Amino acid sequence: MAGRVRGKRIIITGAVDNIGLEAARQFIAEGARVVIGDINEDKGAAVAKDLGEACHFIRVDVTREDDVRALIEDGVEWLGGLDALCQNAGLQRSGKVTEFSQDDWDALFAVNSRAHFFGAKYAADHLRAAGGGSIVNTSSLAGQRGGPGMTAYSASKGAVIAFTTALAMELAPDKIRVNVICPGWVDTAFNQPAIDFMGGRKAQEEVVASIVPLGRQGEPSDIAPMFVYLVSDESRYMTAQALTIDGGVYN
Ligand SMILES: NC(=O)c1ccc[n+]([C@@H]2O[C@H](COP(=O)([O-])OP(=O)(O)OC[C@H]3O[C@@H](n4cnc5c(N)ncnc54)[C@H](O)[C@@H]3O)[C@@H](O)[C@H]2O)c1
Repeated sequence: MAGRVRGKRIIITGAVDNIGLEAARQFIAEGARVVIGDINEDKGAAVAKDLGEACHFIRVDVTREDDVRALIEDGVEWLGGLDALCQNAGLQRSGKVTEFSQDDWDALFAVNSRAHFFGAKYAADHLRAAGGGSIVNTSSLAGQRGGPGMTAYSASKGAVIAFTTALAMELAPDKIRVNVICPGWVDTAFNQPAIDFMGGRKAQEEVVASIVPLGRQGEPSDIAPMFVYLVSDESRYMTAQALTIDGGVYN
């Protein structure tokens, strides 16, 4: 099937690798034009070259309000409007609550929670001007079910779910839908802090084998189709939902 998001103008953050990059690839394969915003300029330039003329890279630090405002304004200019904002930038740090620093706590909340507020704040008027649209936020299974070493990460991701439901109520009259994706374990380098906390890769694999009913970690390609669905008009009657993709852990 091709063309599921044909003509859509999409900004996605945190998309120079892994889940976000796979979503950007699938958006373009399905007919969209995509602006990628990420702090990693080297990878961003390479990805934009690789994905071709339907893709444009803008450097952004999502913890900075001015940066996010510029990403949205410059992105909208390149795209000629805005139909969807996907907020996928994320940060992970692990540690026992008794040893966790305020700096690490604040860093997690700045990327994982507050950035979603900045994005929505500057994108909403553009989505309204397009006659409606879709905001896709990124939380985590960790935002729904906690685990040791994950207090700050879980709290920062849980906040995104609450933010999503409130924002969805606020923007529904403008036909702007807001949903949030909650991936479980996805096999990317993002999880290294959690793996270190658990005692290494083997220990993590044992946990995955014991708690994931489908018996394996996810891959970026297991998560990306949900971004396409939530941006497409196929999900036109869906808002305020947290969609968990985790091999069956959360039930
Ligand atoms: N991998 C998993 O198991 C898993 C599970 C649940 C949720 N998630 C979430 O999925 C998203 C993508 O994760 P991933 O596994 O693909 O890892 P990833 O490291 O490839 O993606 C995170 C992206 O965010 C970018 N980023 C970090 N800080 C930034 C900042 N200040 N400004 C702009 N960009 C910034 C990084 O450069 C990177 O491209 C994250 O939000 C993560 O929390 C991942």
